Amino acid sequence: MNIRTFPTPELTAAAAAEAFAQTARAAVRDRGAFHVALSGGSTPKLMYKVLRDMPEMPWQSVHIYFSDERSVGPDSPESNYRLAQDELLNHVPVPTAQVHRMGGEVQPLDAAAEAYAALLPTQLDAVLLGMGDDGHTASLFPGTGALGATGRVASNFVPRLNTGRLTFTYAEINAARERWILVTGAGKAGILRQVHQGEGGHPIAGVQDAVWFVDAAAGAELANI
Ligand code: 6PG
Repeated sequence: MNIRTFPTPELTAAAAAEAFAQTARAAVRDRGAFHVALSGGSTPKLMYKVLRDMPEMPWQSVHIYFSDERSVGPDSPESNYRLAQDELLNHVPVPTAQVHRMGGEVQPLDAAAEAYAALLPTQLDAVLLGMGDDGHTASLFPGTGALGATGRVASNFVPRLNTGRLTFTYAEINAARERWILVTGAGKAGILRQVHQGEGGHPIAGVQDAVWFVDAAAGAELANI
């Protein structure tokens, strides 16, 4: 595993933001656009804060997607889209038409998954992911149907949360040019060690060739492996 560890969440976020910026500049230079999927959850907040003020960012040529979404509308406090809007997209000049929201409020969710798959580019340039304390990523939760889904986007009922989700499949995540996984906090140290050691069968282990940005707290159990 390609794990980059940093002393603090802030330095971890700064490193991830720099990788985002460098990849964005290269994609726009080479292909005229940067197609990136953001993760949900709270970990990326610090990274988004750094990205807001990142110099020389080609925001006009950036297309934003989401690797998963809760079954809520865009104004819900639970919405991954709303979090990205509040923490990043309201602060940078990405054209509105280039922010592609997952329709978490659409029923049935299968239709929303199909519609979202249809608007994806042939290949994403990058997918940003987090890791839950149960080893899930995107909305690929342990023991759920989407783990075996084919196609690019799937609906997924998560019994533990008693809710439906929309999520990228492994195929979509692993087809992107790059994958970044951002993990901070002591609460994830045990899972991260298990994933690193190939134990536990955690869903995030299905993500291939990712660069992991990890703070010292989350990486605490990796030191003596
Ligand atoms: C979601 C996310 C999910 C998230 C992890 C980590 O919708 O919840 O996409 O996969 O990345 O649960 O969440 P935190 O960053 O809040 O720990």
